[in-house]
Amino acid sequence: MRLSTISILLLLGPVALSGQTLRSLADARGIYIGTAVSPAHLSEPAYADTLAREFNQAEPENAMKFGPIHPAQSTYNFPPADAVVEFAQAHKMAVRGHTLVWHNQVAAWVKNGNFTPEQLSAILHEHIKTVVGRYAGKVYAWDVVNESFESDGSLRKTIWSGAPGYIEQAFRWTREADPKALLFYNDFAAEVVNRKSDAIYKMAQDFKTRGIPLDGIGLQMHVGLKPGSIDSIAANIQRITELGLQVQITELDVKLPIDPATPPSPDLLEAQAKTYRDIVAMCLANRRCTAIQTWGFTDRYSWIPANNKGFGAALPFDADYHPKPAYRAILDAFRAPVPGNQ
Ligand code: G3I
Repeated sequence: MRLSTISILLLLGPVALSGQTLRSLADARGIYIGTAVSPAHLSEPAYADTLAREFNQAEPENAMKFGPIHPAQSTYNFPPADAVVEFAQAHKMAVRGHTLVWHNQVAAWVKNGNFTPEQLSAILHEHIKTVVGRYAGKVYAWDVVNESFESDGSLRKTIWSGAPGYIEQAFRWTREADPKALLFYNDFAAEVVNRKSDAIYKMAQDFKTRGIPLDGIGLQMHVGLKPGSIDSIAANIQRITELGLQVQITELDVKLPIDPATPPSPDLLEAQAKTYRDIVAMCLANRRCTAIQTWGFTDRYSWIPANNKGFGAALPFDADYHPKPAYRAILDAFRAPVPGNQ
């Protein structure tokens, strides 16, 4: 039996009926719409189809982090990261790299090695040279350093603090390994103007003054229904971009207070949609906010329920890959004229 065009469209659902996707609208605006990707799910047709249809940017959720990609001193595990890069290339998506320096997911051999400061520096240098070198020309932007500040603006004490000047050295080494990649500092809870974002801003100013390579700041934006004042976030983005830097929203999700066994109420879904719409519109209002990336795209696979007890359903697609009100709200934000930015 041959399906009529109408029945095919009905089967594909509302996304196909409108003919517009997040990706098509983002392409039209010249902005990246990205998502975190786990290579393990790429063999699942609904996952792969949704990813390729809706996004023009992919970022490995875990596969490029130090522990997963460099599990022993002389062993690199590239296949999972390669799988994400190859999928992205096959579907003409840009790739963001995440992340070269982080206190979390560090390989045990580094943590337990009792290395001297010089040895730690040499380990980090070699790691950056190898990983960035491998993906040179394939990864257009790196989260070089992730989450190095505490909420009071002081520097976090981590294993890497033992390597002298590790933050600026990491940026220098990344530039050396791929002169064309854009280099980002990335952090959470630094969206609004606060002590952490002040510290990041001061670091960025200092880097500009001293010629340390830095192209942008990543605002993770793991938020809830009260994401902080949009005006304050816009002001923070404005001051960063006035330094000549880009801003990218790198890990957006909007967690809902729900019992995992109960689907979210329509009211919660609408409130979530509004939050997504406001954040996307805010990024679109500044030309140097160049990417909006969600941390995963389906509630089937999200870090939230396992790590935030009593919360879930944070992403634009539900666990069966059906678009939620949040998805339509992002489409609406992309369709709306942006004041002063046309
Ligand atoms: O792959 C192993 C598997 O082999 C093992 O059997 C299993 C047992 O626990 O663990 C698996 O690794 C887990 C990994 O996710 C892959 O699923 C780790 O335990 C788990 O800790 C890890 O969580 C990741 C988390 O970073 C680590 O802190 C999340 O997926 C990832 O979404 C999250 O991402 C971070 C960003 O990188 C930085 N910003 C915050 C964001 C959310 O925490």
